[in-house]
Amino acid sequence: MIFKQKTIGQLIGPPKALISTTNRDGGLFVFVEGGVGRKRGIKVAVIISIKEKTFVQEGRKTTVLENIQLSIAPGEFLTLIGPSGCGKSTLLKIIAGLDSDYDGSVEINGRSVTVPGIQQGFIFQEHRLFPWLTVEQNIAADLNLKDPTVKQKVDELIEIVRLKGSEKAYPRELSGGMSQRVAIARALLREPEVLLLDEPFGALDAFTRKHLQDVLLDIWRRKKTTMILVTHDIDESVYLGNELAILKAKPGNIHKVMPIHLAYPRNRTTPDFQAIRQKVLSEFEKTEDLEYAEGSGI
Ligand SMILES: Nc1ncnc2c1ncn2[C@@H]1O[C@H](COP(=O)(O)OP(=O)(O)OP(=O)(O)O)[C@@H](O)[C@H]1O
Ligand SMILES: [Mg+2]
Repeated sequence: MIFKQKTIGQLIGPPKALISTTNRDGGLFVFVEGGVGRKRGIKVAVIISIKEKTFVQEGRKTTVLENIQLSIAPGEFLTLIGPSGCGKSTLLKIIAGLDSDYDGSVEINGRSVTVPGIQQGFIFQEHRLFPWLTVEQNIAADLNLKDPTVKQKVDELIEIVRLKGSEKAYPRELSGGMSQRVAIARALLREPEVLLLDEPFGALDAFTRKHLQDVLLDIWRRKKTTMILVTHDIDESVYLGNELAILKAKPGNIHKVMPIHLAYPRNRTTPDFQAIRQKVLSEFEKTEDLEYAEGSGI
């Protein structure tokens, strides 16, 4: 569940439900009406509070993100959708600690994010594998594959991302989809508290894309990792997310946050799926950049 909030500790949605917030065990707990104690509370994994993010472009200061307030509970799958250039990648980089030059704060499980760390895994659109390392070496990266604990985890992940038999292959021998699965396994090996995915399947063909969406859902079900995934694709955002945030551009801020009340596994052909997709599309169109929407294959 996601709450729009004015400032940290001053959550405003859903307004009737929230009565107080408190910090325990390094995590912020939000207690809903009728909640008694920890079990009934909702723990917040990620708190994003960005007042302003600017870039200097051609000597002029431009506000790219403004007043972004989001709280994400552990184990949520948030999909972020918005027109090209509205600041999705910028937002994800801030959450990842790759960009700390902004006015505001990001917390993951009570800890302020200022630099990249293993608590937040990042998957880029292109896989960024090391060409001179095999699949299993790429997954292990700086960890020692000869360590039995590391090896066992790498093997388990190879199984999960369905790469058994390709452990010794080099990136040049892999398809785009296989490479992206290696990148996902590499991020998961570090057991991140949040996995950030920036259009991870954008460069793939439709068939591979659908397959990897299911792989990702399988990982999410098994590992219960909190996911934040940026996509251009409305269909993908509805298929994957249990919460969906639509960003608008100039400056980038949250247009709407919607829960997706559809059971998993989802079927794209059902009337319920189509109805939500249609609702997202009409909200998306309200964000003005229709030119982008036409060009995005929607
Ligand atoms: N390092 C930078 N320096 C200056 N401007 C930047 C920089 N990075 C991004 N921008 C600008 O910030 C805005 C948001 O960029 P961003 O990459 O976050 O958009 P996006 O929503 O991810 O777009 P897309 O969907 O095309 O990937 C754009 O206008 C872009 O030109
Ligand atoms: Mg981007």
